[in-house]
Amino acid sequence: MSHEAINDLARRIRPEFPLLAQEVAGQGVVFLDNASTTPKPRSVISAVTAYYEQCSANVHRGVHKLGAESTRRYDEARLEIASLVGARPDELVMVRGTTEAINLVAHGLDLGKDDEVVFPASEHHANWIPWRLHGKPVPMAIDCDGVPQWDTLKSLITPRTKLVAIGHVSNVTGAIAPVEEVVAVAHEAGIPVLLDAAQSLSHLPVDVKKLGVDFLAGSSHKAFGPSGVGFLYSTRDWLARFPLYQVGGGMVSLNEDIGVGGFTPRDAPFKFEAGTPAIEATIGFGAAVRWMRAIGMDHVRQHDVAMAKYLVDGLSDIPGVRVLAAKLPPERRIALATFVVDAPSMTQENVARALCDMFGVCVSGGFHCTHVLHARAKLAGTVRASPHVFNTTEDVDRLLEGVREIAG
Ligand code: ALA
Repeated sequence: MSHEAINDLARRIRPEFPLLAQEVAGQGVVFLDNASTTPKPRSVISAVTAYYEQCSANVHRGVHKLGAESTRRYDEARLEIASLVGARPDELVMVRGTTEAINLVAHGLDLGKDDEVVFPASEHHANWIPWRLHGKPVPMAIDCDGVPQWDTLKSLITPRTKLVAIGHVSNVTGAIAPVEEVVAVAHEAGIPVLLDAAQSLSHLPVDVKKLGVDFLAGSSHKAFGPSGVGFLYSTRDWLARFPLYQVGGGMVSLNEDIGVGGFTPRDAPFKFEAGTPAIEATIGFGAAVRWMRAIGMDHVRQHDVAMAKYLVDGLSDIPGVRVLAAKLPPERRIALATFVVDAPSMTQENVARALCDMFGVCVSGGFHCTHVLHARAKLAGTVRASPHVFNTTEDVDRLLEGVREIAG
């Protein structure tokens, strides 16, 4: 995609985001922190407010008209979300987000302390810390830029390996994992694969059947939807085998009196969904999926590849700036660059703050929930810029101008 085409697409889309109309530091905000959370388009905001205004009632319970309408909107959203990833709605467990989905797998596999889980050392805390509590972590080596050494995977698998758990896209380098190769190696050894799609869901076409993964975890809030909702995809077979998770209302078909019997859980996925769900957030997530699909995930990806090149090349050209995994081609990454600015009296958090206060550019600064990656790469923090489909090359130019000034 040419720069003109990137900008045409972005300019067509950006008026749909009320957040982008505001000023920061006396100029129009440049939002480049999408890996942290994305702004929400008006159609998502409207879907949430319409629920409050028109049918704010519980789902799967109310027999009245408003309850029927909220149930219809909620179930439709689940259908949209499932179809985005090529799954059936009964293969999705709705949870609070990617973190809860991974914790649900950790709980479901019922791992003992010697059961090994193989995952790249560069993973986000959400796909690291659960394996300290459940099973035994076997982190795969990473290079000095935080890119996993995928060719070591086979050597890490032992008779005690119970799971291979990988991020689809690194939240630090933006690198896309070789999922199909990982699945082939793991499945050959009879090991299931969990894919953390937090950073890929809104950037890449994702199809659970094509990828062949056993579990996929995703969040709404990094995909233009509200926070507080996400999902775990798995096969009916795995879901049937998983033990109960949280218990309470909504997940039982019968709770008998003491002395009469016990309780009868519903089938998956409902047996894992105790309590009132995040109704409005799920409806908003469904609207976000419709919004992304109306643009087309292939278009989003084309914008992403062109923007990845523009961003990484631009930052790499600035003296005193080191971009992680700068040599990774745009086709193997998303539009995300994590970098270190050589500004001796400033931490990388200071740099991120200055970019906002002086240039109106919002980026992340710090460790991005990846302490192990930063420790192994000997980095005392980094700055991360993560554009998305509404960003223009001019947005990136403002970032480059700010970084140039700070590094100088
Ligand atoms: N997981 C989010 C990030 O990487 C918050 O920034």
